[in-house]
Amino acid sequence: MNTEVENRGRRRLLVAATSLIGAVGAGYALVPFVQSMNPSARARAAGAPVEADIGKLEPGALLRVKWRGKPVWVVHRTPAMLAALPSNDPRLVDPESSVPQQPSYCQNPTRSIKPEYLVAIGICTHLGCSPTYRPEVAPDDLGADWKGGFFCPCHGSRFDLAARVFKGVPAPTNLVIPKYAFLSDTTILIGEDREAA
Ligand code: FES
Repeated sequence: MNTEVENRGRRRLLVAATSLIGAVGAGYALVPFVQSMNPSARARAAGAPVEADIGKLEPGALLRVKWRGKPVWVVHRTPAMLAALPSNDPRLVDPESSVPQQPSYCQNPTRSIKPEYLVAIGICTHLGCSPTYRPEVAPDDLGADWKGGFFCPCHGSRFDLAARVFKGVPAPTNLVIPKYAFLSDTTILIGEDREAA
């Protein structure tokens, strides 16, 4: 038998073996992924409410929680942060939250159930970037009037610590406040409220 025939035979065998390994590999890749979606993960992906433990959230700190694939922020506002909020009003587009970007129980000066906790969806109302938490007062890059808030790095929109948008920026409305409820002093349920439950 000549070498050419032998080589062709080997090549065919190799191609067949490689295809088999590829098919088996793809099967294995798929199975663990599907299996890793346990019932609660599947429910979360579909939009079920999520619980956030805020027991260790220090005053001034921000916690990020994922709900429906979106970032949700919980900020533990300090008394100084809360006291500074009204001074932003003249520079805001919608200081009284007249546009329904929040559940009715959050249409108040702090846009929240408990003043010390802001819960907001961390997606800019301009084109959907996620703004950066900037709690400092009067940093060089944001100016002397800055009392803490959120800055969108994409096109410069600014929001205060009640997630209200400032005038003169591309974002048209305040950030969205999702439905939520306190299950206890240290646990928030995001995505469902007690009125609807
Ligand atoms: S996406 Fe935030 S300013 Fe454009």
